[in-house]
Amino acid sequence: MTQRIFSGVQPTGNLHLGNYLGAIRNWVALQDQYECLFCVVDLHAITVWQDPDALRKSTREVAAALIASGIDAKKHIIFNQSQVSGHAELAWIFNCVARLGWLGRMTQFKEKAGKDQEAASVGLFAYPNLMAADILLYKGTHVPVGEDQKQHLELARDIAQKFNHDYKKDVFPVPEPLILGSATRVMSLKDGTSKMSKSDPSDLSRINMTDDTDTIVRKIKKAKTDPDLLPENAAGLEGRPEARNLLGIYAALADVTMDDAIAEFAGQQFSALKGRLSDVAVASLAPIQEEYTRLLADKAQVDAVLADGAERATALAEPVLREVQDVIGFLRPKKAR
Ligand code: TYM
Repeated sequence: MTQRIFSGVQPTGNLHLGNYLGAIRNWVALQDQYECLFCVVDLHAITVWQDPDALRKSTREVAAALIASGIDAKKHIIFNQSQVSGHAELAWIFNCVARLGWLGRMTQFKEKAGKDQEAASVGLFAYPNLMAADILLYKGTHVPVGEDQKQHLELARDIAQKFNHDYKKDVFPVPEPLILGSATRVMSLKDGTSKMSKSDPSDLSRINMTDDTDTIVRKIKKAKTDPDLLPENAAGLEGRPEARNLLGIYAALADVTMDDAIAEFAGQQFSALKGRLSDVAVASLAPIQEEYTRLLADKAQVDAVLADGAERATALAEPVLREVQDVIGFLRPKKAR
């Protein structure tokens, strides 16, 4: 079977260093080995309220950021989810495969719904079924994501297996998560115990892929630390989430192992690490920003990539949808001549 990558990112605001190191940078690296589809998941975005103009803008921005990061949109496919109707269609079918109990265990739903679960949208609850549909609509075999998506991927695997089992046919591959690198879970710069996230109200908590040099340097300077010197070895990171986070980000950006990063700053002050970290963060992000700014000045180019991507994704999805319909027993009546 073709080894095919599918992954997605929500257009709900600025992409940040967590998205970049946990996902997008790996996508760029994997595109030489696999056939890839990268999706701006606007159907997922509306599981919580989105202002229509902001959603449109953010969809273009995320697509531009993917292109600017180095994804080859000619060789691979970049598109927005709503433009391939098979995602919603297969998600409905998976709503009938997945069990309520499976979804009830999803930690992201509990986090996002908060205390008042009754007020959450049904879409937010069924969100992982749509994610499974995204991947399996193309018979995706590998899914590069950050650690926070691991539980959703396990559910996608369960859905693929249950579907194949119930219909006694190997329709779907069981997709493999690819959680790669030393920054699979980038934490907030203001609190090393909570995830770097688009929804954190403090902009100082994250480095956005679009932050300029001064902003990046300022945010790293203000990042939370602890009063001790940096540790001599990995065991010394125990109970020091901020040291672990900053060293992990540095290791990922400088392309060295965590052990090498620890050795480089052993016994030094945080300020030494912060200085080097600013340098590598700026060096990694500046070329992306330049290309991103250029692309956003030419909306037609980004829109053309998305339109072409949706067309090619639709062509890949159609035979899979037909196969699924046949297996389920949906009659596909032939037209009378
Ligand atoms: P989203 O939009 O929240 O994030 C996009 C990607 O970035 C990773 N990520 C992180 N990695 C490390 N540290 C962080 N702090 C961090 N924050 C985000 C995420 O793990 C993800 O890989 N449900 C998904 C989108 C999705 C999807 C899919 C992914 C929809 N359908 C099918 C894979 C396959 C999401 O909300 O990602």
